[in-house]
Amino acid sequence: MQKLVVVALLLAAVGCNQTKEPSNTELMESKIDSLIQQMTLEEKIGMLHASSSFTSGGVERLGIPELVMSDGPHGVRFEHGRGWERDLTVDDSATYLPTGICLASTWNTDLGYRYGAVLGTEAKQRGKDVILGPGVNIIRSPLNGRNFEYLSEDPYLTSRMAVDYIKGVQDQGIAACVKHYVANNQETNRSGVNVTVSEQALREIYLPAFKVSVMEANVHTVMGSYNKLRGQYTTHNEYLVNTILKGEWGFTGLLMSDWASVHNTREALLNGTDIEMGTELTQPTIDYNKFYLADSALAMIKSGEVPVSVVDDKVRRILRTMFRINKFDERTPGAINTTEHQQVALQVAEEGIVLLKNDNLLPIAVDKTKTIAVIGDNAIRRHAHGGGSSQVNAKYEITPVEGIQKLVGDKATITFAPGYEVTRANKANKKMIAAAVETAKNADVVILVGGWIHNYDPSVWGGFAFDSEAVDKQNTTMPFGQDELIKAVATVNKNTVVVLFGGGPVDMYQWINQVPSIIQAWYPGMEGGNALANILFGKTNPSGKLPMTFAKKLEDNPAHSLGEFPGQNWEVNYGESIFVGYRYFDSYKVAPAFAFGHGLSYTTFVYSDLFAEDDEDTIYLTFSLSNEGKTAGAEVVQVYVADKESSVKRPEKELKTFTKVFLEAGESSTIELQVSKESLRFFNEETNQWEFEPGQFEILLGSSSRDIRLSETMNL
Ligand code: BGC
Repeated sequence: MQKLVVVALLLAAVGCNQTKEPSNTELMESKIDSLIQQMTLEEKIGMLHASSSFTSGGVERLGIPELVMSDGPHGVRFEHGRGWERDLTVDDSATYLPTGICLASTWNTDLGYRYGAVLGTEAKQRGKDVILGPGVNIIRSPLNGRNFEYLSEDPYLTSRMAVDYIKGVQDQGIAACVKHYVANNQETNRSGVNVTVSEQALREIYLPAFKVSVMEANVHTVMGSYNKLRGQYTTHNEYLVNTILKGEWGFTGLLMSDWASVHNTREALLNGTDIEMGTELTQPTIDYNKFYLADSALAMIKSGEVPVSVVDDKVRRILRTMFRINKFDERTPGAINTTEHQQVALQVAEEGIVLLKNDNLLPIAVDKTKTIAVIGDNAIRRHAHGGGSSQVNAKYEITPVEGIQKLVGDKATITFAPGYEVTRANKANKKMIAAAVETAKNADVVILVGGWIHNYDPSVWGGFAFDSEAVDKQNTTMPFGQDELIKAVATVNKNTVVVLFGGGPVDMYQWINQVPSIIQAWYPGMEGGNALANILFGKTNPSGKLPMTFAKKLEDNPAHSLGEFPGQNWEVNYGESIFVGYRYFDSYKVAPAFAFGHGLSYTTFVYSDLFAEDDEDTIYLTFSLSNEGKTAGAEVVQVYVADKESSVKRPEKELKTFTKVFLEAGESSTIELQVSKESLRFFNEETNQWEFEPGQFEILLGSSSRDIRLSETMNL
């Protein structure tokens, strides 16, 4: 086969080649043909399932190596060797990036690319082929235990961040794996809950990020999810995989299962599952031949029940992925734990941390402050090992107290009290609160760092885990008696800033008016403590914006107001349809605590002079943005469009584009943005098509979904 290629190339070189020179893709496909022709059926089947915890089978005889995977999505995971025990004999330290929701809060797609590039090169250095990320499931409820890994409630923001993340990974010659396809929006009963969702919501809300990952970012691999959709497991769902992913979107890469999401040999064979992972996890007796895509698949092919071409197609997709990531060639070296990677972690945290509220307390002038009280267990807690499969052995992780200490140096005295206790009892510890109150009383400023933590040992935490795989939160009430703590501290010290960790909101109504400043820090990664300190003391001007609505209380969220989370008897109905997140809050006039897209700055941005025009395909917007404050900073300009005349009920407005603009103090800039008319279509369930309905549209430019600064009505 290689000889043939050489001959073809020689013929081309001497001008004897009458036909067109084969393209790289053609050459790759012909190499794949040749490999497939040489393989026995057993060898082919051996490639379709796991050969260890994070590898799928190769064919040694033909020089086809195993495919090596690793989580993802915010750092290369612990080393597990071939089983599930952590391999403590190797150095598996890595860059621990801020988690997905913090990345999305930057609204900075360049950072998305750099984040992906860090993952790609670190994965390469660790000998991996595929990094299992990004996670792009839509945040449907604030209770979902994995929201911290995901990006947003909005499909457009999710899509834009995912595309650049994937390109960043894949430009390093490593495959990204967009997950979990699809409608895996809760962890409760994730292993088989059946999702019922309208076609419109599926198309407009849940599928778009997967679609652009395939069609725009050319993602090499996709991971199926655990749940069912409309009665069939998503990993071998005929409609989702054959019709949409591999049909409509023309996906040519491979679909792998989530770990133990395959349940049926015939369906997995016929409905597009290419690699089955994690079905049986018991060690050390695991028998990979018992996987659905192993011996039973072999028998089905041998009996003629399923044609061998089905297997060939799967093998072809696996080999294609291998060729695309240079698996058969010498790879360029990767890099791990570099200062540059740590800088990416810092910048994502600095741009992702969101200043929710600020009544003149921040930034803290360190020279004018004698004593700073730091209160709260999260000020000293490290989070990289938590949350489930996304755990990272961080090279280091700067806690808030360390970051504050480093920045303040000896300019002020820092005191500390934990204030609450992380226990399953989940109630206030009166003694600790009393000690924290004493500490707060004697300080000029209080930085109270609390919120959620990860906890992932189901045997210990049972149904009581937060921000963790396999378990949803039970409510949005602050755990460990922190409401009481905050109220007590804020009563004795008016200069209290509350910093919240976590993959989503807590209810704040008990104390929101009692504290001047609130910061949402998410899980900000290994440089989180430094980033937070830089924001608190004004070294960094915050520019993060919420990628999800923070409701006043849980019941205000659409899935909860309908009582449709997490469903009953393994069934969940997405009754809110397309009215997810701000689409619901805005359309149904429910005031949130903090709106989608909200986030404050230490400077003031003024929007002016909007000019809008359109041609057949595109709306062109020009406007001016100026930084009228005294500090350099960045604004995320958000463009929403309201469809004023529609034959079906549309959300009040939807995000259609955004840009992040950095301006020096006093600087102005003329900004041009475009919105494609195609993006204004909706999915019409009657015709089963995307449709554009001409009529009146309102273009809304703002600093958040509820802080619209300029608008223009257009007839399109
Ligand atoms: C998770 C995936 C992860 C896989 C491998 C599963 O439990 O749902 O996101 O990639 O495990 O660790």
